[in-house]
Amino acid sequence: MGNLSVLIACVVFLVSLLHEAIATAARTQNGSEAWGYVQVRPKAHMFWWLYRSPYRVENPSKPWPVILWLQGGPGASGVGLGNFQEIGPLNLNLKPRNSTWLRMADLLFVDNPVGTGYSYVEESNLFVKTDEEAATDLTILLEEIFNRIESLQKSPLYIVAESYGGKFAVTLGLSALQAIESGKLKGKLGGVVLGDTWISPEDFVLSWGPLLKDVSRLDNNGVEKANSLAEKIKQQIGDGQYASATNSWAELEGVISRSSSSVDFYNFLLDSGMDSVSLTAAELSQGMAMKRYIRYLSSLGSSPGGDGDIDSLMNGPIKKKLKIIPDNISWGGQADEVFSNLAGDFMRPRINEVDELLAKGVNVTVYNGQLDLICATKGTEAWVDKLKWEGLPSFLKMDRAPLYCGNDILTRGFTKSYKNFHFYWILGAGHFVPVDQACIALNMIGAITESPAASSA
Ligand SMILES: *[C@@H]1O[C@H](CO)[C@@H](O)[C@H](O)[C@H]1NC(C)=O
Ligand SMILES: *[C@@H]1O[C@H](CO)[C@@H](O)[C@H](O)[C@H]1NC(C)=O
Ligand SMILES: *[C@@H]1O[C@H](CO)[C@@H](O)[C@H](O)[C@H]1NC(C)=O
Ligand SMILES: *[C@@H]1O[C@H](CO)[C@@H](O)[C@H](O)[C@H]1NC(C)=O
Repeated sequence: MGNLSVLIACVVFLVSLLHEAIATAARTQNGSEAWGYVQVRPKAHMFWWLYRSPYRVENPSKPWPVILWLQGGPGASGVGLGNFQEIGPLNLNLKPRNSTWLRMADLLFVDNPVGTGYSYVEESNLFVKTDEEAATDLTILLEEIFNRIESLQKSPLYIVAESYGGKFAVTLGLSALQAIESGKLKGKLGGVVLGDTWISPEDFVLSWGPLLKDVSRLDNNGVEKANSLAEKIKQQIGDGQYASATNSWAELEGVISRSSSSVDFYNFLLDSGMDSVSLTAAELSQGMAMKRYIRYLSSLGSSPGGDGDIDSLMNGPIKKKLKIIPDNISWGGQADEVFSNLAGDFMRPRINEVDELLAKGVNVTVYNGQLDLICATKGTEAWVDKLKWEGLPSFLKMDRAPLYCGNDILTRGFTKSYKNFHFYWILGAGHFVPVDQACIALNMIGAITESPAASSA
């Protein structure tokens, strides 16, 4: 807990801005960290936490990048999970993480949408109901942060998303670009990065049965059940019945769990860490699926004999350090409501938004863990095939380059790029690529962000 010194050193101050949105902010004395709330709409408060990299390299031809990390769920906390369990400077035991992405960039975590993590709404009708509404809130947050912190404006912004966060990332990418073009947001968009993201739910649910059959986790009977429900979901999506599709999705997860003896949706080589009660169909609701996700990450994060419990951490020492979290806000307290309010958008595809970004010349990178089930590579490749982007035929014809880590001789992945579209296949990783393959993930993010700290090999 050596980092308690940061806690004591931190200076809290309040800033009222000229426009309606009111920001509350605090930072460490030397400015290495800053955090705060932005009131993105009246009574809707979004929490953010910015880390300035101690590994910063000044290079006149390559600006130091900043990464905005968008967690999934929807309703999972980037400030908690992404930060302490995946890419931030400290792990759940508050020990340094060697593979932190701070080695390559500054990191901005947010609890998005409002209601997630430390973010909160004062009235229950203020949760967002669509990805676009979330993107609008995030754009206001970015305007508050970037317009106020002048030094950040020189850093190209990379929106990096995991899981459901991908749907926010592409809608935000478009909205941020518009805000930059109209002069409302001072900054530069470096690119949008989609890590195991839920861009096309239909393509994922259709991939589950065949994939699990190929790796012996389902038999023909199981595949038949899964496929017929997946076809029903496809129909519901086609008919615009997104809320019904969300219910069928939860049902399909239940069918697959039962037929596969509880395969882990985040790594198909594993069993789900769920207890038998939460496996019952009745409890396999959307909220439960999200709790499973958090539990899975926790199981990865806690070392044997360690005390790595994210809930205690975020509601204990971290809340104390940050000082500005209202007493009656508990971390993650509104997350289920975040999910249920988005139930009507959860299954809506966002392939068109990827196409729009590509058409506008924005760099779009997709990366996918080989062992992921929920956002399986098979499903990702299926939605990529549906892009209307003119470069697609050339991209598909190209050969991939293998990826290695350091002097390691083991193949860690493959990549290829055509014009502004880039794809990384990461071997040996499930849904949480930066956790499962830390070395290659760090190299990859260095390359994607063109970080001056990345080795040019
Ligand atoms: C900033 O201060 C924190 C402690 O508050 C310390 O851990 C960190 O190394 C300092 N960073 C720089 C660049 O001085
Ligand atoms: C920590 O990272 C550095 C550089 O990325 C690497 O050389 C070193 O082997 C890593 N150490 C561990 C214990 O992983
Ligand atoms: C927290 O307390 C404040 C007043 O102290 C109140 O206005 C607010 O609604 C409370 N928030 C929640 C989520 O209970
Ligand atoms: C996209 O990325 C490439 C490197 O992969 C870079 O050369 C190019 O300038 C980037 N384009 C934009 C518009 O940022």
